[in-house]
Amino acid sequence: MMENSRIAMSIGTALDRFIKSHQEQFKYATGELSQLLRDIALSSKVVNREINRAGLIDLAGSSGSMNQAGDNQQKLDVLANIRFIRALKKGGEACAIISEEEDSILEVNKDANYVVAIDPLDGSSNIDVNVSIGTIFSIYRRITPAGEPTTEADVLQPGINQVAAGYVLYGSSTMLVYTTGKGVNGFTYDPSLGEYFLSHPNMQIPEDGKIYSINEGSYNSFTPAVKAFVEQCRERQLSGRYIGSLVADFHRNLLKGGIYVYPTTEKSPNGKLRLMYECNALAFVVEQAGGKASTGSQRIMEIQPTDIHQKVPFFIGSKKMVERAEALHKQPAGSTA
Ligand code: AHG
Ligand code: MN
Ligand code: MN
Repeated sequence: MMENSRIAMSIGTALDRFIKSHQEQFKYATGELSQLLRDIALSSKVVNREINRAGLIDLAGSSGSMNQAGDNQQKLDVLANIRFIRALKKGGEACAIISEEEDSILEVNKDANYVVAIDPLDGSSNIDVNVSIGTIFSIYRRITPAGEPTTEADVLQPGINQVAAGYVLYGSSTMLVYTTGKGVNGFTYDPSLGEYFLSHPNMQIPEDGKIYSINEGSYNSFTPAVKAFVEQCRERQLSGRYIGSLVADFHRNLLKGGIYVYPTTEKSPNGKLRLMYECNALAFVVEQAGGKASTGSQRIMEIQPTDIHQKVPFFIGSKKMVERAEALHKQPAGSTA
């Protein structure tokens, strides 16, 4: 018989308490960043509730509008965007917000110190079929002094300047995973208590893995280097796993070891994923967990952004797997086909 102590597993620290007790690790230990993280966590609970009920309260399906990238916006994309932006505005700690669902920079509170980049709902084409989706966020400290209007330079900072980043995975259970540059911690949501609890302390991605995640349906339009990488994965008999929800694919690979790739294709010459609110945040998380994120030839977090919605080719995951992909990009053209 299982011991009672093993059945009644200990519940980890609540997220609020964890944020508070780690506050002094931040470079600017004033509590503002803590408040931002709490605002994001709170709105994710509201979004989680709406996702869970989507099929019952007419929240599934398209909203009938498009975002700046020409993607069909789902009702939940629009709603999640409203929820996060409202919470960040009310919280008062964000001077500017950029979002996948907003054409331009939203100036919020000029007296605040932080810029937030957010993909409120990622993988939204999976909502209607009950497959995992996510939220991705990234936080920067502004460059100009608080009190002045926010400038483009405050927003267009390279990923290495992030002070915090993370994601929420609305999956078989809902998790919030984040870093402030001192390792990665994962929290699981207990809906009956309405709280996130530390369940995955100090997450580390295996150095190598057996999973590759790429949309192989686009194989014919991959570059020779990407084709060679896919061939190599097949020869090594790795497992192909592709949900089509970046957060879910990334999270699985973080836990098990693997690589997620969204490369250049004919349809999307710079890939599909957005540097500022998809790639940089996950790059920060993966590097803090011991992994790597690259375009194939450049470290994601060193790219100087030029546009808030810019797209980049994306290779992310276990260190050795990303390095194998990078090695194939270094070979002279023609020798990799
Ligand atoms: P979003 O729903 O925010 O527009 O992003 C979806 C992304 C990502 O989550 C996923 O991995 C990828 O699009 C899937 O694209 P393909 O269908 O082209 O493979
Ligand atoms: Mn997205
Ligand atoms: Mn989205």
